Amino acid sequence: MNIIIRNEEEKDYRRVEEIARDAFWNLYFPGCHEHFVVHKMRNHKDFIKELSFVIEVDGSVEGAIFYTHSKVIQDNGKELKTISFGPVFISPKYHRIGLGRKMITHSINVAKNMGYSAILTLGYPYHYEPYGFLGGKKYNICMPDKKFYKGLLALPLYDGALDNVKGYVMFSDVFDCTDEDVEAFDKSFPFKEKLVTKSQEEFEIASNMLDE
Ligand SMILES: CC(C)(COP(=O)(O)OP(=O)(O)OC[C@H]1O[C@@H](n2cnc3c(N)ncnc32)[C@H](O)[C@@H]1OP(=O)(O)O)[C@@H](O)C(=O)NCCC(=O)NCCS
Repeated sequence: MNIIIRNEEEKDYRRVEEIARDAFWNLYFPGCHEHFVVHKMRNHKDFIKELSFVIEVDGSVEGAIFYTHSKVIQDNGKELKTISFGPVFISPKYHRIGLGRKMITHSINVAKNMGYSAILTLGYPYHYEPYGFLGGKKYNICMPDKKFYKGLLALPLYDGALDNVKGYVMFSDVFDCTDEDVEAFDKSFPFKEKLVTKSQEEFEIASNMLDE
């Protein structure tokens, strides 16, 4: 397998959206909205183009990762600038052979070299603990509802980057989208059936788990 990781280019846009749709469809709720989020993100003020990568397998794009600006609003009134990745996805036929690991590791290294302070993301801990992410509680970072969730994960990009921080995370508003907008965009893709799945039930439970 010849693997290349490179920045996303305009020629990749539709292919990347198709992979996002395949990877997320019915995974966390019936249907998905990640392909629409990716579509919107590239023109959003919070988008970090230098950190958006695709991974090619033998010349074919098979996954991508996207980053946006985020911040921690601290109890002392100060804001700490952070970055966040997501969506991140690999074509289902290539899951669990290390492609996600290569792409995520590459993006973290580039983010470090660019001087960013820390990455905050939401997801299953088992997806991101292999890269050193720990629950936000370890760094006194909670969600805007002031609760600590197991699914809020943080990775300082240099020693001490998250020392003495206390506050809540604010992710980009690019993730806010209406069902109507997603539906309208989804019509430009081949029909896929929306189904209720076991993975949605697991996600529902996981996303409400508090870190206590
Ligand atoms: C999550 C995703 C990007 C991971 O990519 P991948 O190429 O399949 O992952 P890798 O093979 O590189 O796995 C790296 C490590 O992550 C962890 N991991 C990844 N998927 C996992 C799973 N389903 N269950 C448990 N651990 C998992 C493991 O530690 C794994 O290492 P291992 O295989 O040596 O045990 C991919 O599965 C995907 O596209 N999923 C659907 C979309 C999604 O949920 N994205 C994340 C939320 S934004």
